[in-house]
Amino acid sequence: MLLTHDSPATWLVTGVAGFIGSHLLETLLKNGQRVVGLDNFLTGKKENIADVLRRLPPEKSKEFTFVEGDSRDYKTCSALAKGVDYVLHHAALGSVPHSLKDPVTTHDINVTGFLNILRASEENKVSRVVYASSSAVYGDDPTLPKEEGHLGNLLSPYAASKRMNELYGQVFSRCYGLPTIGLRYFNVFGPRQDPDSSYAAVIPLWIQSLIKTQPCYINGDGSTSRDFCYVEDVVQANIKAALCQNPQAYGDVFNIGCGTRTTLLELYSLIKNELGVGDDLLPLYRETRPGDIQHSFANIEKARNLIGYEPGYSLETGLKLTLPWFSR
Ligand SMILES: NC(=O)c1ccc[n+]([C@@H]2O[C@H](COP(=O)([O-])OP(=O)(O)OC[C@H]3O[C@@H](n4cnc5c(N)ncnc54)[C@H](O)[C@@H]3O)[C@@H](O)[C@H]2O)c1
Repeated sequence: MLLTHDSPATWLVTGVAGFIGSHLLETLLKNGQRVVGLDNFLTGKKENIADVLRRLPPEKSKEFTFVEGDSRDYKTCSALAKGVDYVLHHAALGSVPHSLKDPVTTHDINVTGFLNILRASEENKVSRVVYASSSAVYGDDPTLPKEEGHLGNLLSPYAASKRMNELYGQVFSRCYGLPTIGLRYFNVFGPRQDPDSSYAAVIPLWIQSLIKTQPCYINGDGSTSRDFCYVEDVVQANIKAALCQNPQAYGDVFNIGCGTRTTLLELYSLIKNELGVGDDLLPLYRETRPGDIQHSFANIEKARNLIGYEPGYSLETGLKLTLPWFSR
């Protein structure tokens, strides 16, 4: 990691009690940084923060300040951004199906909340805002692998909200000189990803089902493919984007994936084999969900070239590191 213990910086991590936010917190504190965290516990959990702090020596935990609050409240954002060097913005409603049911809440949190963070960062002269976008912005564009410049029609209010983030990120960079960098995450997985939410992602859901010897549901015929990215690679991308000194990257967006493609059937057998589950537990097939895209696979050359991103974990290695957390 590029972080130095000698000159700690102050980082604001929004969505710090969530899956990705808690991993950012863990790496930053481990590396001697000061962290201010914001979360409203909408989908995040107190246990995620407790899990991080439990693993760290007390002197590192002391460098963490948590604020329970909401990114939709400008005053909260403004107060939090004071004295902050880097913002890693991850507070959002991340569910496509939820956004189709309630687009207004998705907009309020994902768009207005982000705008508040941008304004607060600009007013407080923050050095960099790195924010979470999503591969959902590729919509129905069939091109594979996905390249940053080729977007299709958006398939959900969630995708629209993430595209709005990218446009605002670009505008704040251009109009206000606030260096922003957007990271289009593909399917991120790892420890602390919630298997119990009604909109849980496929990896935590299947791991939990197989541990309980319950059948897994495959949406579609199993040929749907995804680029599964281990959470430590996402952490690496955030830190490299925050510390990147190449102005060409400011106001821009980057694919963050593993750069490989795995079908749901391949994923199912990988998890099953890792867990040592017998062949008699067959998956159950059902309809694909509205708003889901058929194939997703990242071209990560732009992130490699401009921010120095280099994924270090294959799906297999990431799964080996993830399973013990679910088997606790
Ligand atoms: N996990 C993935 O595969 C993936 C893929 C693409 C993009 N993303 C994006 O990455 C970010 C983090 O995702 P995650 O998987 O860690 O999700 P998560 O739900 O675990 O984390 C989001 C966190 O934000 C908090 N939050 C929500 N609204 C808030 C608000 N108004 N104010 C303060 N806190 C609020 C939640 O309580 C939660 O702790 C999100 O922006 C998501 O859209 C994730």
